[in-house]
Amino acid sequence: MEYLFVFFLLAGAFVVVSMRRSRKRRSPLPPGPKAIPIIGHMLMMDRLTHRELAKLANVYGGLLHLRLGFLHTVTVSTPEMAKEVLQVQDSLFSNRPATIAIAYLTYDRADMAFAHYGPFWRQMRKLCVAKLFSRKREESWASVRDAVGTTILSLAAKAGAPVNVGELVFGLTMNITLRAAFGAQSKENEEEFIAILQEFSKLFGAFNIGDFIPWLKWFDLNGVNKRLRKARSALDAFIDKIIDEHRRNPKEADSADADMVDDMLAFLGTDTQGGYLRLTEDNIKAIIMDVMFGGTETVASAIEWALAEMLRSPEELERVQAELEQVVGFDRMVHESDLNNLPYLKCVVKETLRLHPPIPLLLHETAEECTVAGYTIPAHSRVMINAWAIGRHKSSWKDADTFLPARFATGGHEAGIDFRGNFFEFIPFGSGRRSCPGMQLGLYTLELAVAHLAHCFNWELPDGMKPTELPMDDVFGLTAPRASRLVAVPTPRLSFELLSA
Ligand code: HEM
Repeated sequence: MEYLFVFFLLAGAFVVVSMRRSRKRRSPLPPGPKAIPIIGHMLMMDRLTHRELAKLANVYGGLLHLRLGFLHTVTVSTPEMAKEVLQVQDSLFSNRPATIAIAYLTYDRADMAFAHYGPFWRQMRKLCVAKLFSRKREESWASVRDAVGTTILSLAAKAGAPVNVGELVFGLTMNITLRAAFGAQSKENEEEFIAILQEFSKLFGAFNIGDFIPWLKWFDLNGVNKRLRKARSALDAFIDKIIDEHRRNPKEADSADADMVDDMLAFLGTDTQGGYLRLTEDNIKAIIMDVMFGGTETVASAIEWALAEMLRSPEELERVQAELEQVVGFDRMVHESDLNNLPYLKCVVKETLRLHPPIPLLLHETAEECTVAGYTIPAHSRVMINAWAIGRHKSSWKDADTFLPARFATGGHEAGIDFRGNFFEFIPFGSGRRSCPGMQLGLYTLELAVAHLAHCFNWELPDGMKPTELPMDDVFGLTAPRASRLVAVPTPRLSFELLSA
């Protein structure tokens, strides 16, 4: 018995000494507020938004450390630190963190967006980029043109009265992604799917104590696990039905009328090139979720913000309209081929994405312990790259909080800067390995929709509201849409025959 006691005493002393030594050897963790034992900074959970984290970065610097229970989190808030994690050491920072909810709802990361960096993700991304996001996939691009046309038609019918632009553009992007994913669908299917998506969205953001204190996850203290099971079985039933319909009515993959489900069914059960990926039904369901989440709210919120900013600065709307008048004229609608001749419209889109990046915090995870700027970042830390704070960083941008599209125009202060991932002061689509694979399709929708809205209509705020009175608050979630939907009054600039053609 005494031997046992001495053994434990020595073992304990050894652990304490070696922990102290290893602590001494390591560089320090990045700075941050003082932590409380065990719970760390969990009392600050409601401050983990892009705006609050930007304020904390002003106090503690571009690399900020917080401990949420047992989870290390690091926030990156300057272009220099973003370059360090997205370029210099990107292979160590390219995993994705997944909460209990995300892991469950993505069939244990059977998708691309939440898969860890590695052979499975690489094969999955190759397949999606070639088959689903490629410019060659005419169905997706055609669905954008049709959905924009339908939106213009419904606006023309409401001309002169206040219109809820936010709801309208959400419907627009939802139609685009639904059609690209499932082909033509009935209204009943659409409503069911929207309800499922909304519950998924809530669950993605729901607080779950088990994410921070792992041994509490079995207790399901806030009933999240029960909701998760219900939501996933609803999606299972919905997509199983669609997969069965596609099997009964098969289409040649890559044919003009094939949708994403047709294209992916062609790979079901077969190994792809490298042999790492054997596509299962779970993969198909999870990829569909990626596309719906990745492509709907992001694009919708950017269109809504662009119009809101132009309504707040009417001289900017006039400048875009003058350009459209010169390039397109009043006798026809905007065509895809016009977009490259509308440089000021592109400046407006860029400036919108700078001030309102639809995904304000890019979520990454470290694969192993590493050192950045002399600080230790522990393995499996959650890394949040604050694209919103970086886009408004005072040392990178002149008049950082002001909407000034001309900054990107020839001769402007920031003329040469773009968002394709080479300028770390401007990363609305991310940069490097995990950057957005849907950028081309997203930008096409955004530019075409904003061009049509500005070309087809004049816009005013309702009830005599002055431009300066338009609220510009956002809400925080996976995306950062407007806190209140934009309501505005359209009046046609083109003839009704043209708008309804
Ligand atoms: C204005 C439009 C869009 C913006 C601003 C945007 C932005 C982003 C950002 C910031 C990321 C994460 C980058 C990172 O973690 O470093 C991302 C990833 C992703 N986006 Fe987009 N996105 C847009 C449109 C789309 C569209 C239209 C789709 C699909 C149709 C899409 C699908 C995805 C997917 C699947 C990922 C995960 C990629 C991966 O983890 O490998 N996005 N997007």
